[in-house]
Amino acid sequence: MNKHVSSTQSKLLFDKSISLFDNFLQHTDQADNAVQHILATLKPSFPTKVGSDEKFAYLDVGSGSGVKTLAIAEQITKIGPIDVIALDPSQDSLARLKTDNPAISLETHCASWEDFQPDRPFDLITSIHTMYYMKDWEAAISKMLSCLVQGGTLFLSLRTLDEVCKFKNTFFPLLAKQVTVEPDFSMLVETLKSMGVRAELFTVPSSLSIQDFFDGKESGYQLIEFLLRTPYSAIAKDTQAAIEEYLEPYRDGAVLKQIDGFAYIVRDDQSC
Ligand SMILES: C[S@@+](CC[C@H](N)C(=O)[O-])C[C@H]1O[C@@H](n2cnc3c(N)ncnc32)[C@H](O)[C@@H]1O
Repeated sequence: MNKHVSSTQSKLLFDKSISLFDNFLQHTDQADNAVQHILATLKPSFPTKVGSDEKFAYLDVGSGSGVKTLAIAEQITKIGPIDVIALDPSQDSLARLKTDNPAISLETHCASWEDFQPDRPFDLITSIHTMYYMKDWEAAISKMLSCLVQGGTLFLSLRTLDEVCKFKNTFFPLLAKQVTVEPDFSMLVETLKSMGVRAELFTVPSSLSIQDFFDGKESGYQLIEFLLRTPYSAIAKDTQAAIEEYLEPYRDGAVLKQIDGFAYIVRDDQSC
C-alpha cells in the first residue's frame, strides 16, 4: 500500500505540470527506452490475435499525453489492427493525445484507475510511472489483472532507487512536503510477491541531462521543479545551495542515471 498520495492530489499535480513533464521528457531518453523495452519483451509472446482480423485491445493506465501509448500502438498496428484506450485523470493531458494513424482507433477516458469502469477485457495493459500516484497498489494490480484476457499482458513500470530517486528522497523532506519518500520499484516487487503474482522483472537504464541546470537555464530550473514538485524560486536559498552542492559531483557528465524497473506479468489462472 502506498500511503503517500491520494489520486485527487495527483490529478491536481498533473493538471498543473504538463509542461514540466514535457520539459522532463525533453531531457531524457527514458521514454524511447521504455517503449523499445516493452515492444521487445512483448513481441515473442504476442497473442495470436495480433495479425488476425480481430482487434488487439490496449489500455494505457495513466497515459498522460500519450507519448508512450502512441509509440507502442504504432508498432503493434504494423502487425494488426488495434483499439487503444488512454486513461488519465488529467483532461489537459488527454486533450493533447491525438493520432494521425487511421489504423489506430483511440478512445480517451478522463478518470483515475480507481474510478474507471472498463466494459471489456484487454490484451495489453501498461501503467508506466503511474503507480506513484495510486494509494492501494494491491487493489490497483488486482483490478488490472482482472481486466486482462487470459494470456493477456500487464506491464508495470516504476523508477528504482536510482540517482534521480535518491535526489528526490534527499530533498523532499527538506521541502517539508506531504510526499516525503518516492515509492520505488522495490516496493512494487514486494507487493507483487505478497500478492503471489508471478512477474518477470527487468531494469532499463536511461540518462537525465542536467546540463541546463548547470547552465542556469529556465528549463534546468523547471527540471528541478518537476522532480521536487516545488518551483525553484520558491525553494529557500539555503536549500537551493544544498541542491547545487548535491549536484556538483555530477557536473562532468551532467547526467543523473535513471534505472527504471519493469514488471511483466502474463495473466494465467495462477496470476489472478
Ligand atoms: C509521470 S506521468 C506518466 C505518464 C505516462 N505514463 C508516461 O510514462 O509518459 C503520471 C501520469 O499518471 C496520471 N495519474 C495520476 N494518478 C492516477 C490514477 N490514480 N490513475 C491513473 N492515472 C493517474 C497522471 O495524471 C499522469 O498523467
